[in-house]
Amino acid sequence: MIEFVLNGENVRVDVEDDTPLLWLLRENLKLTGTKFGCGKGLCGACTVHVGGVAVRSCQTTAGSVQGQTITTIEGVGKNGLTPVQQAWVEGNVPQCGYCQSGQIMSASALLAHTPHPSDDEITAAMNGNLCRCGCYNRIRAAIHRAAELSDAQSSKVAVRMFDPNALLSGSVLTGSVS
Ligand code: FES
Ligand code: FES
Repeated sequence: MIEFVLNGENVRVDVEDDTPLLWLLRENLKLTGTKFGCGKGLCGACTVHVGGVAVRSCQTTAGSVQGQTITTIEGVGKNGLTPVQQAWVEGNVPQCGYCQSGQIMSASALLAHTPHPSDDEITAAMNGNLCRCGCYNRIRAAIHRAAELSDAQSSKVAVRMFDPNALLSGSVLTGSVS
């Protein structure tokens, strides 16, 4: 029995330890947003996050994710589109779409640890995610745009946290939170 946290929910699945995580997700849990491409760790279509790190689920065994936290494309933007997803929509990135869940998972992991990646850093992080439709330029542009959208989102949160009206009404000074 394999137990882990998947997209914020506790999950228990009865599979052999050597079952590829990709099969566990698609066949046992019916989460088909994660795609099968090459099955050999070469295309990136099956990318998910394990402990916040982008991994190829076709090359990851069920046994190795015991007790881990996993996010698939179904768990991204559960509470509203993320900056990466917004940028993807704005930039009209996908063509056929098959590779795109893997692309978004890799881009999200990149931006989580490198909020303003250079072109070289994007190339290094996204190199293993192949796109047969050749959307590479749109993907690169969308990653830069997602970085801008994240900045805009963070500054809105900062403005909300320091509301001058609250200062005037004394709620900041008294520590009251509404
Ligand atoms: S299906 Fe996993 S890397 Fe291609
Ligand atoms: S959008 Fe078609 S393979 Fe990438």
